[in-house]
Amino acid sequence: MLGAVWALLAPAGCVTVNIGAGAVAGTVSPTAYAHGAVAADHEAASRAGADMLRAGGNAVDAAVAASFTLSVVRPYSCGIGGGGFMVIHLPADPRHGRVETALNYREVAPGAVGPDFFEREANRGSSVRGGKAVAVPGTVAGLLLALERYGTLDRRVVLGPAIRAAEEGFVADAHYESAAAELIGKFELNPEWKERFPLVWGRFLDGGRVRAGCRVRLPEQARALRLIAEGGASAFYEGPVGEAVIEAARSAGGVLTAEDLRAYRVSEVEPLAFTFRGLRVLTMPPPSSGGVALGQMLGIFEAAWARSGVSAEGGTGAGSSWGVPPSAPQLHRLIEAMKHAFADRAEWLGDPAFATGPVAALLDPVYLGARAAMIEPERTQPPGRYGTREGPAADHGTSHLCAADRWGGAVSCTETINLEFGSLVGVDGFGFCLNNEMDDFTTERDRPNSFGLRQSARNLPAPGKRPLSSMTPTIVLSGERVRVIAGASGGPRIITGTAQVLLNVLLGDTDAAGAVGAPRVHHQWSPDVVRMERGYDRGPGRFAGIEAWRDLTRRGHRLEWADELADVQCILIVGEGAGRRVDAASDPRKGGAPDGH
Ligand code: GLY
Repeated sequence: MLGAVWALLAPAGCVTVNIGAGAVAGTVSPTAYAHGAVAADHEAASRAGADMLRAGGNAVDAAVAASFTLSVVRPYSCGIGGGGFMVIHLPADPRHGRVETALNYREVAPGAVGPDFFEREANRGSSVRGGKAVAVPGTVAGLLLALERYGTLDRRVVLGPAIRAAEEGFVADAHYESAAAELIGKFELNPEWKERFPLVWGRFLDGGRVRAGCRVRLPEQARALRLIAEGGASAFYEGPVGEAVIEAARSAGGVLTAEDLRAYRVSEVEPLAFTFRGLRVLTMPPPSSGGVALGQMLGIFEAAWARSGVSAEGGTGAGSSWGVPPSAPQLHRLIEAMKHAFADRAEWLGDPAFATGPVAALLDPVYLGARAAMIEPERTQPPGRYGTREGPAADHGTSHLCAADRWGGAVSCTETINLEFGSLVGVDGFGFCLNNEMDDFTTERDRPNSFGLRQSARNLPAPGKRPLSSMTPTIVLSGERVRVIAGASGGPRIITGTAQVLLNVLLGDTDAAGAVGAPRVHHQWSPDVVRMERGYDRGPGRFAGIEAWRDLTRRGHRLEWADELADVQCILIVGEGAGRRVDAASDPRKGGAPDGH
């Protein structure tokens, strides 16, 4: 029935328009600006943020405008039906003082969900698609809290670009087409989904016909955004939008209640901070595993490389400086560091509001040095040798953006609805999808989640609990001066992608475009396989890539080629005073482009 309604609302076949010269897939868009910039994974979102900077707004205004716009133009990656994390660094100003903070607006489990909720389910897919997959959304509360506490512009101004994009529509690009094609295949295998998920099938996928160049209009989401612009967060959590969210989840078999929505609160915490090469790295603490794992990967790699007899910055032979892409001995040590970090993630991390994780112990340099000492230079080891059990060890559903302003302020923000189009449950009359973040919990003991991640009982669901995440919004500071803003989308590949881009910038001395464009590897401990990005076997570095593959195989690694590992956005602040330059890059893998002034 609902399917028929959406079929009537959806345009009969999409309207094809020409994609402008800016929308080039597969090429890096490097750009340097004098004052400030935004790098998002869609150029319309970067433009929305940069418009706030041009209007005199700060990095928070820019990030919030970019994020609301992403809700419209990357509806499979994030949106007002999802959640996220934001790390903010603002130098002292008369209005806010000095700000160094992290906003946790991750979704929470509804009140009716206990630890064995999904184990009792006959349908094993219920944490992935449908109403039971839906956690209480946090994005609107998080973005508006950021704006109220740390922004400078009026809410209506900041939501303006998103409302216009929803009303006028946006042009699907190559990344949209590829995300849609994957999902269209799943709809064909599960034809009953067409009736169950009419917003996604009828509007976002245009009944299976959507292609790059099609215009997608979301007037219903424009209505929701206009209500939020007028009424603030309560216009989402209560009133007609809130009622429609509950009805959408309920009619798709979910357990979300009005009380769950009313009780939702953003948590403001201190960022997780660690030191790398004398620089202060600010990132996200649990319930993201991203910050801890990033600190572990960089720390273990650094110590292991130092043990190889040379510093990571110089030396000869095996210890030559960090290459972009890196040499096989460097890759081997980095992969081993990834395996330790993901083994510890599986064992130790969860929502700290429910179970204390040994974060300080996991980042202790002595512990990281001991893990580095376990790395054998010439061979990899069986999975049981990674992390500690002794008490101190292509996702499309996420989007990352970075923003820098002319006053030295920085925002690093990652948001998610988990898998592409989340639970697939559309909110009737308001044109957005609800997340499936419940699948980031340990939904069944001893069973990996959709990203193949093994997780412990610390991450079992409980009412009001936040599922463990891999999102790693990061800001690197030299003293008080921001040097790098980075983060990624891509499930667990977020952490390894962000780590490699930071290494490229901090040790490889690349510009932002070179850092995000370089090929990458990924290992998440389980499954025990290195994914090596295609790109290693192409272009001028082709022979070095093939050599690295052979070398890693000789050390006992099992390798597989991967088409794409994470989508990273990065901004570098180069120089000071009149020579200051803001170098921004969006990952070519997702077709984004930065904007600035
Ligand atoms: N939903 C992906 C993550 O939070 O890691």
